[in-house]
Amino acid sequence: MVQEMNILGIETSCDETSASVVTDSMKVLSNIVLSQDEIHSPYGGIVPELASRNHIISINFILEECLKRAGIKMKDIDLISVTQGPGLIGSLLVGLSFAKGLAYTLEKPLVPVDHLEAHIHSAFIENRDVPFPALALLVSGGHTSLYLMRKKMDYMVLGRTRDDAAGEALDKIAKFLDIGYPGGPVIEKLSQGGKTKEFDFALPKMTDQSLDFSFSGFKTAALRYIKKNNLNRKSPRLKDFLASFEHSVVSALISHLKKAALKHFPESLILCGGVARNKRLREHFTALAEEKGLCSFMPSPEFCTDNAAMVASLALEKYKQGEKGKLALDLNAYARSPY
Ligand code: KG4
Ligand code: ZN
Repeated sequence: MVQEMNILGIETSCDETSASVVTDSMKVLSNIVLSQDEIHSPYGGIVPELASRNHIISINFILEECLKRAGIKMKDIDLISVTQGPGLIGSLLVGLSFAKGLAYTLEKPLVPVDHLEAHIHSAFIENRDVPFPALALLVSGGHTSLYLMRKKMDYMVLGRTRDDAAGEALDKIAKFLDIGYPGGPVIEKLSQGGKTKEFDFALPKMTDQSLDFSFSGFKTAALRYIKKNNLNRKSPRLKDFLASFEHSVVSALISHLKKAALKHFPESLILCGGVARNKRLREHFTALAEEKGLCSFMPSPEFCTDNAAMVASLALEKYKQGEKGKLALDLNAYARSPY
């Protein structure tokens, strides 16, 4: 029997400590994600120093749990992969140093990966045969970008946000209303059954033909409505307000994707990133693909928010394409993605 290769992924770019083992046939043997939501929740957002300090406390335990659930030992790992950037530098350095230490002592190759590219690649964990060209919409707490992909690992940026990311806008409004952190899932829950047209949020108009996004206008309009209507966590109109706000963010994302589809004639659409967990967004995304007769791909919710399976699966792809990995002990974290 041919022994399968095991790829270990490590992800600590923000406030999730995660480790995963993926085989070379892209089977996810384990994907352990420890969220720090409870730690950052009282602050309504991530406190970078607390994030790094908690990664360093948890990372070893997360690795042990990951190997246990995968049913393998560290000696069975053939390749180690880790997120190099972008993200919170202190958080990234914990994962990076840990991965370097493992690679050095175990004499295994190390493949660093980009966080945004890993998010896009998460769509390929469960879907091998994605027809190209594809349009990939990445929506997270730190980024909102649209790419044209002619093949795997080939990205042309069509648009990115000029101000806030979509997830960031959701998180900020939830913080302002003091309804919980992270804002996206809280808003999704509290807006259930709410009316989406009760509060009007005009879609931002770009003067040029750009496919860039902008969410700061929505945020300003939302803050104005909150003040004018004295909205708070107990208001009877909160549900309608949140439903209208979430609906507007989703509409802005989908309208850009639609515009891009008309211009670039893709075969398929990809949705990824933490906000891709959102039910309303998933439904509108699927409806657009059906309307246009395109294939649509989005990861299962566990692979949308930050996780190490997407890191390991991207490293596997890079390995298959010739990147054998090396132990570069001077490898450093970076804050800005080239993607
Ligand atoms: O990809 P991710 O885990 O981290 C970044 O790379 O930023 O995305 C986190 C973002 C947060 O803004 C969070 O509010 C949002 O994803 N999010 C959601 C949902 N789950 C997470 N937004 C809307 N609906 C959700 N169910
Ligand atoms: Zn992310």
